[in-house]
Amino acid sequence: MHTTVGIIGGGPSGLLLARLLGNAGIDSVVLERRDRAYVEQRQRAGILEQATVDALRAAGAGARLDREGLVHDGIELRFDRRAHRVDFPALTGGRRVWVYAQTEVVKDLIALQLADGGPLLFDAEVRAIEGADTESPVIRYVHEGREQTLNCDYVVGCDGFHGVCRSAVPASVRRTYERTYPYSWLGILAEAPPGYEELIYAHSERGFALASMRSPQISRLYLQVPNGTDPADWPDERIWDELDARFAIDADPGWRLKRGAVTAKSVLPMRSSVTEPMRYGRMFLAGDAAHIVPPTGAKGLNLAVADVIVLARAFAQLRDTGSAALLDAYSDTCLRRVWRAEHFSYFMTTTLHTDPGQTAFERKLQLSQLDRIATSPHACAELAENYVGLPLGVTA
Ligand code: APR
Ligand code: PHB
Repeated sequence: MHTTVGIIGGGPSGLLLARLLGNAGIDSVVLERRDRAYVEQRQRAGILEQATVDALRAAGAGARLDREGLVHDGIELRFDRRAHRVDFPALTGGRRVWVYAQTEVVKDLIALQLADGGPLLFDAEVRAIEGADTESPVIRYVHEGREQTLNCDYVVGCDGFHGVCRSAVPASVRRTYERTYPYSWLGILAEAPPGYEELIYAHSERGFALASMRSPQISRLYLQVPNGTDPADWPDERIWDELDARFAIDADPGWRLKRGAVTAKSVLPMRSSVTEPMRYGRMFLAGDAAHIVPPTGAKGLNLAVADVIVLARAFAQLRDTGSAALLDAYSDTCLRRVWRAEHFSYFMTTTLHTDPGQTAFERKLQLSQLDRIATSPHACAELAENYVGLPLGVTA
């Protein structure tokens, strides 16, 4: 088999790239290791920036998002037992975010791709990429137990943090910058209507908590927990009590979350990581294959989308004009945006969580920073601009 662009991984990056290329008349093949049901059920974050929504609409994947996505004009910060609202449109010239789960984005993209897109193979595990630095790279994969070969003009590694593409870049030209955090998130899905209209990010002495949602009937909630926490140590009652304690504010002492059946419970580690460059020869890295952010700023999916928009434009330029200028600039273009999002995610994470080794001095600094955001429109606008996402074109 031969294709112009061999795409490894059928997560949001790989699926959206295939759509964007298809719409530009460029053929591709997507190889995904897992089966369709697994990919469609994986629980991930749920905040889409304006640029992400625009890209999904342009790719033809905006219909259900426009019907079911929830438009959010702000978030609430809680700290020091008080609340501060961050008003996105007022602080960012009218920009906002959408609450629409990544699993739903993935379902929409898969349905489109299977209906009228290029090949999308499930149960197709890539074992090796050969000749990434030659004119004709080859992907070796196993599909339904049989070894196969895909000859490509270009390869794109959209295979996530645990994929094979990043390590196909020789160690001599690859550099990874990383940070781990001394805490994790315990996340639950609950059949309870969120009693709050906007997401709540809470700093408290007991640790960080986040109230998000999946729909008007389903709450998504997170608690900071120590690394290595076993979800079995957190019966539902304990989770609800702890969430209520962390969100408590003096202005509304009766404030409580609406409780409901907990339908999923898992522990997520937190990590920051960037691998440079995002290209080796004719192989490009996109999304989690190249960078990871801790989830506190909800940037992971949006960064992945920004990468593949840049890449799709670059392939279109090459096809239309013969110029590889955008392809050659791909890594540098993306990395500017990536590092901005890395900084923002790190800032949100370290400002809102309680480090187990934290001193009283450091806690005072966090509270001072949060108070600055609550009292200075400039400080608040800096947070809002980063949260809604920088427009594509500013950094990518
Ligand atoms: N062969 C084929 N597919 C593979 C291989 C392989 N060797 N290794 C990994 N994959 C697949 C995984 O099964 C997964 O479906 O690549 C896909 C990568 O998808 P994601 O991890 O979702 O990464 P990406 O598409 O870049 O999306 C980034 O996902 O982790 C979240 O927060 C992150 O929202 C962000 C988004
Ligand atoms: C989520 O809804 O899963 C979510 C929302 C905001 C975040 C992280 C996760 O910052």
